[in-house]
Amino acid sequence: MAANKNQFTLKLWSLRYRFNSIVTVFIAFVIVLAIFITIKNGEQAEILATVGREACDLFSGQWVYDNTTYPLYSERGCRFMSDQSACEKFGRRDLKYQNWRWQPHGCNLPRFNATKLLERLRDKRLVFVGDSLNRNQWISMVCLLDSAIPEPHKLMESNGSLMSFKAKEYNASVEFYWSPLLVESNSDDPIHHRVPDRIVRAQSIEKHARRWTNADVLVFNTYLWWRRPVMKVLWGSFDEEDGIYKEIDGLRGYELALRTWSDWLEFHVDHLKAQLFFMSMSPTHWSGEEWGSPSGQNCYTEEEPITEEGYRGKDTNEKMVRVVEEAIESLRGRGVKVQLLNITQLSEYRKDGHPSIYRKQWEPLTKEQQEDPSSYADCIHWCLPGVPDVWNQLLYAYLFSLNRT
Ligand SMILES: *[C@@H]1O[C@H](CO)[C@@H](O)[C@H](O)[C@H]1NC(C)=O
Ligand SMILES: *[C@@H]1O[C@H](CO)[C@@H](O)[C@H](O)[C@H]1NC(C)=O
Ligand SMILES: *[C@@H]1O[C@H](CO)[C@@H](O)[C@H](O)[C@H]1NC(C)=O
Ligand SMILES: *[C@@H]1O[C@H](CO)[C@@H](O)[C@H](O)[C@H]1NC(C)=O
Ligand SMILES: *[C@@H]1O[C@H](CO)[C@@H](O)[C@H](O)[C@H]1NC(C)=O
Repeated sequence: MAANKNQFTLKLWSLRYRFNSIVTVFIAFVIVLAIFITIKNGEQAEILATVGREACDLFSGQWVYDNTTYPLYSERGCRFMSDQSACEKFGRRDLKYQNWRWQPHGCNLPRFNATKLLERLRDKRLVFVGDSLNRNQWISMVCLLDSAIPEPHKLMESNGSLMSFKAKEYNASVEFYWSPLLVESNSDDPIHHRVPDRIVRAQSIEKHARRWTNADVLVFNTYLWWRRPVMKVLWGSFDEEDGIYKEIDGLRGYELALRTWSDWLEFHVDHLKAQLFFMSMSPTHWSGEEWGSPSGQNCYTEEEPITEEGYRGKDTNEKMVRVVEEAIESLRGRGVKVQLLNITQLSEYRKDGHPSIYRKQWEPLTKEQQEDPSSYADCIHWCLPGVPDVWNQLLYAYLFSLNRT
């Protein structure tokens, strides 16, 4: 009996042993295969490994000073640089803001390969739709691609609210469409959009949308222009006499507009073909006391990022974040996938990245302004090369990794 039992145990053990060794061999095989694939596909596998796994949040990390790989292009070398972002050209002397790499906790951002992106965009349109921060990102993208295309093979066209950078050899088009509130408003003129009394047609988007509906990749944003306690909303058209005006708060207007936008995506955009992105809000740096500088100081003279992990400025409106999240969640329920690129936190750290006074001034400065430079500093937009390059690296990572189901 005892012997039998022992034999039985032994048998069981050897079975288990054999099973264990099969598992071991299998795991080893998977590891070898993984290494093989990694070596073979190099970058691609790296991207899949980084974005595909929940474990690595590309949006959580820190800025690391890296003057060997950054900047990714030079300000002067980019022929399409905007005077709004050309901080070096407009006199900024501290240039460290160009040398920061975003280092997510637990993985690396894939290296930006312009040729690879252009191949991906062959015969396609990538369109950024939104306000001046989205234009900031578009310029960054154009500069990132510019170096990979020889001179006669590219051009820039503009047609009303639409600006297109074209890489002829690839028949690829990288565009920006000005519509700061996404829906129609009286700020839709791409040049003259500073109006004292803002009016929105929160339920009308078609005039804009028909210019981008057939794009292959769409990158939206809208945020800053809604930050008003009260907005005037128009039911009816701007040309009609009998339109109905109603004053509602900015947040409610934001909700209405994102609903209009969502409906358009659901019913008019081919969401099996198009890849859709929404950029989370870009933070501003107006109040120095928030990060420990003297009160009254803003981003002007700031030369270093904030190092406190999780730092959040008071300007960042959580309620508006929720509205965007809910719109995207609701779209997901309707079968439309929009990827939120959560650039808010990583940009919060970059109080040093704004043009402050080093950009083109559209109006001559007054004597008072000249005496107090921080009074006319731009703490909203970003110098290039700089923070928006990283937003585009994140976009790049998702463009190559998103599974399309
Ligand atoms: C964005 O990312 C930060 C850092 O990971 C995180 O704290 C925050 O909750 C995220 N926000 C959204 C809306 O996903
Ligand atoms: C990079 O930064 C280090 C440390 O600040 C400095 O010693 C070095 O000269 C810099 N290299 C370049 C290429 O600017
Ligand atoms: C960039 O991508 C192209 C096309 O996929 C490839 O031939 C090239 O080797 C890549 N460059 C680098 C530095 O990885
Ligand atoms: C060029 O790209 C556009 C989309 O942007 C496409 O409609 C057109 O067919 C392409 N042209 C050629 C010759 O492939
Ligand atoms: C500009 O855009 C309008 C509206 O889409 C279009 O009808 C027109 O042909 C475009 N003009 C040029 C020069 O491309």
